[in-house]
Amino acid sequence: MRFLLNVDHIATLRNARGEEQPDPVTAALIAEQAGIDGIVIHLREDRRHITERDVRLLRELVKTKLDLEMAADEEIIKIACDVGPELATLVPERREELTTEGGLNVIDNIPLIKNTIEELHNAEIDVSLFIEPDLKNIDAAAEMDADFIEIHTGVFANAETEAEQFDELETIRAAVKHAKKLGLGVNAGHGLNYQNIKIFREVPDIDEVSIGQAVIARAVFVGIKEAVQEMIRLIG
Ligand code: PXP
Repeated sequence: MRFLLNVDHIATLRNARGEEQPDPVTAALIAEQAGIDGIVIHLREDRRHITERDVRLLRELVKTKLDLEMAADEEIIKIACDVGPELATLVPERREELTTEGGLNVIDNIPLIKNTIEELHNAEIDVSLFIEPDLKNIDAAAEMDADFIEIHTGVFANAETEAEQFDELETIRAAVKHAKKLGLGVNAGHGLNYQNIKIFREVPDIDEVSIGQAVIARAVFVGIKEAVQEMIRLIG
């Protein structure tokens, strides 16, 4: 299981003062030196955290893997095709949400998502669809020639009882198995932290986890290098 760090929160802190520090690009480079497998950023339509400058600089400097989270929006697609991340992860986007709050509804948006995948593929960018662990969405992702799915782990992370968490893990296991059978790569993310990763890492066949909040929050106290390495040790 590879571990990619989402550095959006560093940009949120920078933008709170409209100044230049802390710089998400510096954070990404420290994380790479600490042994991370890749960097995730979300270029939002409203640019509330990551900016185009960040995307372009990170493309120049990141040596591991750059995963650009994005909406299926014409302007953002153009930037993605120009910049060329290794992976583009399509996510739903609403201005008022605090974070990406749910998976893509692939089935009701087939033409838009299919065209977006085609445009990104033409620029030689692999495409991942951020979805709930739902078999119908996975079938649709495979039919549309997506390369990866990213399973939304929010329900697992927010489970209030062990039984609820166990049930969701079973749902995720079945989803991973189904996606793998269809030839899809499988990533996962949202709400994973230093506690729940100990259970989550037992799910077989997950290619990558994308973690932001927990690691950046820990980094405030111990620094990015230490926070990243603690998570790497837990993932094993
Ligand atoms: N994956 C996707 C698609 C996301 O939108 C987010 C949230 O930025 C994450 C993973 C990481 O979630 P968290 O910040 O809760 O670790």
